[in-house]
Amino acid sequence: MNAKKSPPKRAGSRTRAAAPSAGRMDIGISDAHRAAIAAGLSRLLADTYTLYLTTHNFHWNVTGPMFNSLHAMFMTQYTELWTAVDPIAERIRSLGHVAPGSYAQYGKLSSLPDAPAVPPRALDMVRILAQGHEAVARTARSLLPLVDQASDEPTTDILVQRLTVHEQAAWMLRALLEE
Ligand SMILES: [Fe+2]
Repeated sequence: MNAKKSPPKRAGSRTRAAAPSAGRMDIGISDAHRAAIAAGLSRLLADTYTLYLTTHNFHWNVTGPMFNSLHAMFMTQYTELWTAVDPIAERIRSLGHVAPGSYAQYGKLSSLPDAPAVPPRALDMVRILAQGHEAVARTARSLLPLVDQASDEPTTDILVQRLTVHEQAAWMLRALLEE
């Protein structure tokens, strides 16, 4: 009758760190490399999404004698950029990390400025987009030594595809600016 009460069982006393190892992964890339590559791909995702939105904005707001050709060219480009964000985000997930997907995160991660609030003149739009494609290319290229060191061929494949697209788009846009 006088037995001491045992202390109440504490629910949830197991820490997250000691949780079962169902979520552990080993694809042959070290944790540090996976984290660094995912961080770099997050910057590429933010750049790509920001350039997508600016290009779609310019598709809507372009004016002047080049309207037809620029309206159509910008549509081709924003459609390609929109399609490109998904494989980048899903590569981040395959590396075991969370893909950023909010304007607040993209604002912090992107190396590109937001689209101007007042629509620029048509050729200024072209110049802004050319500089944007070059900026995304620089972000993608900066990751190559890291992914090479980690033998991360799937990420290399994505980076090579993105570099090809951005360098070609930058050339086409720059060509429009020549006299
Ligand atoms: Fe449209």
